[in-house]
Amino acid sequence: MKYKFLGKTGVMVSPLCMGTMSFGGIADEKTSKAMFNQCRDAGINFFDCANVYEKGRSEEVLGKLIKDCRDEVIITSKAYFQMSSNVNAGGATRYHIVRAVEDSLRRLDTDYIDLYFIHRFDEKTPIEETLSVLNDLVRQGKILYIGASNFAAWQVAKALGISAKNGWSRFECIQPMYNLVKRQAEVEILPMAESEQVGVISYSPLGGGLLSGKYGKNKAPDAGRLVENKMYMVRYADEWMHEVAGNFTALAEEENYNPVSLAVAWVGAHPGITAPIIGARNVEQLKASLDALDVDMTDELYRRIADLSYTPPLATDRNEEKTDFNYGLR
Ligand SMILES: NC(=O)c1ccc[n+]([C@@H]2O[C@H](COP(=O)([O-])OP(=O)(O)OC[C@H]3O[C@@H](n4cnc5c(N)ncnc54)[C@H](OP(=O)(O)O)[C@@H]3O)[C@@H](O)[C@H]2O)c1
Repeated sequence: MKYKFLGKTGVMVSPLCMGTMSFGGIADEKTSKAMFNQCRDAGINFFDCANVYEKGRSEEVLGKLIKDCRDEVIITSKAYFQMSSNVNAGGATRYHIVRAVEDSLRRLDTDYIDLYFIHRFDEKTPIEETLSVLNDLVRQGKILYIGASNFAAWQVAKALGISAKNGWSRFECIQPMYNLVKRQAEVEILPMAESEQVGVISYSPLGGGLLSGKYGKNKAPDAGRLVENKMYMVRYADEWMHEVAGNFTALAEEENYNPVSLAVAWVGAHPGITAPIIGARNVEQLKASLDALDVDMTDELYRRIADLSYTPPLATDRNEEKTDFNYGLR
């Protein structure tokens, strides 16, 4: 296993991060344990969680699993989404974050969370308030590093400037969505992260299952997230996405790879990505994602996969960037 530095920090993480959103939900405790052990056996030391996953149950399950190896793993949690009917039990306020961290520590049954994310940008709370409470929690040793999920690049860049100006802990990692049919991150987020040396653990490398081989233009399984979960159904509803999924599956078969392994490896091969966060409901599914570590992702294969979907233009797009006539290129 070739470990990578997490952004600018000296912390080394595995090139795949295991997502625990299924722990205590579609994966019961026994299956979660089997998947956790499978990851540890493969050398994975990085586990992503959130307070909102299964209303805290995922944290409780993960907490039990890390008991014997707490000092060897890097775990995350997150706050923002509403945790109860109390109007203040959500958001990125000082009020909520202090309580959310205490609650997560209790559920995870640990003294500290290695990497703590704000799950989503809070338009209603000044970012200074959020960053200052995160900084306090770092000083208290309750969280070690901080991160931002689902933020636009400008929101992260603004936060980095404010942290630097105040001498506060900065966002060392971001967590955007990224896969072959959701490539928005290529425009601003990934270039920003590379420029600022911010680590990136991206989620949904399979598009919630879309790129697993089960879907295509006129092909869908009877059960699974994209046919059962309304939010994901909507997220991946466009016809062209299912066409890409079908073409991607055909390419994977031609190359003798499980599409799951190839989709995860493609995400991980982007120079801005530290580790894709993988997700599974059982050990069989997980094996295919872990096999991404063995994919020989050549430049040619990477490009052929990228060419299956629309490449979003650069943020400074003038069209000639795609040609030999790129005026002013140094
Ligand atoms: N920050 C955020 O806002 C955010 C959002 C989402 C996720 N995350 C994190 O990212 C992690 C991974 O996200 P994700 O679950 O969306 O990842 P994903 O890899 O895109 O989707 C995983 C799903 O794909 C299907 N699948 C996986 N392996 C398969 C296989 N071998 N064969 C067939 N189907 C397979 C399964 O769904 P079915 O069996 O139902 O088809 C599985 O639950 C989560 O656990 C969480 O930690 C973060």
